[in-house]
Amino acid sequence: MNLFRTKSIEQSIAETDEPEHQLKRELTTKDLIVFGIGVIIGTGIFVLTGQEAHNHAGPAIVISFLIAGAVCALAALCYAEFAAAVPVAGSAYTFSYATLGEFIAWIIGWDLLLELALGAAVVARGWSGYLQELLELPTQVAGDQAVVDVAAMAIVGILAFLVIAGTKLSSSVSSIFVAIKVSVVLFVVIAGLFYIKAANYSPFIPPSEPAELAKGADETLLQAVFGMAPTAFGVMGIVAAASVVFFSYIGFDVVATTAEETKNPQRDVPRGILGSLLICTLLYMAVSFVITGMLPYTDKRMDTSAPLAEAFSANGVEWAANLISLGAVAGMITTILVLLLGQSRILFAMCRDGLLPRQLATVHPKYGTPHRITLITSAVVAVLAGFVPLAELSHLVSIGTLFAFALVSAGVLILRRTRPDLPRAFRVKWAPLVASGSILTCIWLMLNLSLLTWERFIIWMAIGVVIYAVYGRTHSRLGQSEAAPEATSTEPRAD
Ligand code: ALA
Repeated sequence: MNLFRTKSIEQSIAETDEPEHQLKRELTTKDLIVFGIGVIIGTGIFVLTGQEAHNHAGPAIVISFLIAGAVCALAALCYAEFAAAVPVAGSAYTFSYATLGEFIAWIIGWDLLLELALGAAVVARGWSGYLQELLELPTQVAGDQAVVDVAAMAIVGILAFLVIAGTKLSSSVSSIFVAIKVSVVLFVVIAGLFYIKAANYSPFIPPSEPAELAKGADETLLQAVFGMAPTAFGVMGIVAAASVVFFSYIGFDVVATTAEETKNPQRDVPRGILGSLLICTLLYMAVSFVITGMLPYTDKRMDTSAPLAEAFSANGVEWAANLISLGAVAGMITTILVLLLGQSRILFAMCRDGLLPRQLATVHPKYGTPHRITLITSAVVAVLAGFVPLAELSHLVSIGTLFAFALVSAGVLILRRTRPDLPRAFRVKWAPLVASGSILTCIWLMLNLSLLTWERFIIWMAIGVVIYAVYGRTHSRLGQSEAAPEATSTEPRAD
C-alpha cells in the first residue's frame, strides 16, 4: 500500500458530479464574504485584544494584529490558488490529497478537526459565558462554572439543523448576525474615537521586561529549545501577542470548504477568502488602536474577558457594555455555524474517499447537504462543549490551523511543479516567495505556542496515525481502485 498515492485533481472534480454525493451549487461572492466575516470575527477580538495588550504588547497590539493578519494573508493567497484550481469540498484535505499524498491528506483532515470541531466547541462555550452574563442565566447551566453547559449544547444543536437545512439558508441567517456584529465593531471604533487619550499611546512599544517566569509546560517551544528567558513587551512581546491573536483570524480558510457549493468557484472563492480577511484585518487593527487609546494597557480591566466593554465603562459609557455583549453573542453564533459547516464538508470529503465510512457521505435528498455527517459532527461538538471546560484549548485550535496552513502552502509549490499545465483561475504572484514565507511564518507562530499545546497536538496527531493505519489505509477508495484497476469507477460503491 502506497502511503503517498495521490488522487488526481481530475478524479476529485469528477467525483463531485456523482449524484449521490453531489452538493448544491448556490453560493455567490457575497455569500462567501459573509461566511468569511461570519466565522472570523468571534471571541478573539472581543477577548484577546485587551488581554494581549495588557500582558504582552501594550498599544503595539495593533502591530501584533497586523503581523498575524499578514501571516494569514500569505496563507490565504495559497488557499485562494488551490481552491480555484481544485474547487472540491474538503479544502486543505482535498488539496493535499492531490499533492502530498493520501497519508498527509489524512493527517491534515484529522488535524482540521482541531480547527473546526474543537474550535466550534471552544467558541460555543465562550458564547454561553457571554449569554449567561447578558441574560443573567443560572451559572449551573451556562458559562464557565456550568456543570453541564446546556446553553452551549443548545446552540450547537440549533445551528446543526440550520446547516442541514441548506447552505444558502445558513448564509442568509449568517448575514443577519454578521450585520449585527460588524455594526457593533464599527460602533466600538467610531464611538471609541471620542474617548481616546493620546497619553495612553506612550510608550507605544513598551520596553521589554522579564515576564513572570513561565515554567514547565507554560514555556513556549522556542524558549525551551533556545533556553530563552521569557520576556513581555518589546519586539518579542509583539510577536508573542501575534501568536495568540492569530486565533481571531481563524476561519477565512473555511470559505474554501464551500468551493463545491459555489456557482463560480474559480472567481468567487479567492474573492471570498481574500475579501473577508482584508475587511477583518482592518477592523481588528482599528478596534485594537481605539481600545488601547481609551484605557491604559497597564489597567487591570484590560485583562478581563470583556475588555472592550470595560474600556467603555471606564469612560463612563456603561450602556455600551450590553451593546458590545450583544454583538459578541451574535458574532459567535455565526462563528460556530460556519465552523460546523466547514467541518461537515471536510469529513464529507474524507468519507467520500473511503478514509472514513463511505455510508456517511450521502447527501440529503431534499436539502442537498451532507446530513448524516453533520449530525454526527454536531453531536460530538455539543458533547465537548457541554461537558469539557475548553477555554485553555484555544491554543490547540491555533496550532492545528497553523499546521494546516503550512502544509497547504507547501502544496501550492508542489502543484506548480507537478501540474504546471493545470488551469489556475487565480495565480499567486511570486509563488515561491509567498508560499515559503507562509510556511516559515506559520512555523514561527507555532514555535511561540506553549510546550503543553505541543504535547496535546502531538498526542492528537498520533491518535490520527493509528486510525489511518487501522481503517483508512485499507478502506481508501483510491487504494482499492489501485488494487483492482478493472473495478475503477467513479460510480459510488455499494457499501
Ligand atoms: N476567529 C474566530 C474567533 O475569534 C475563531 O472566535
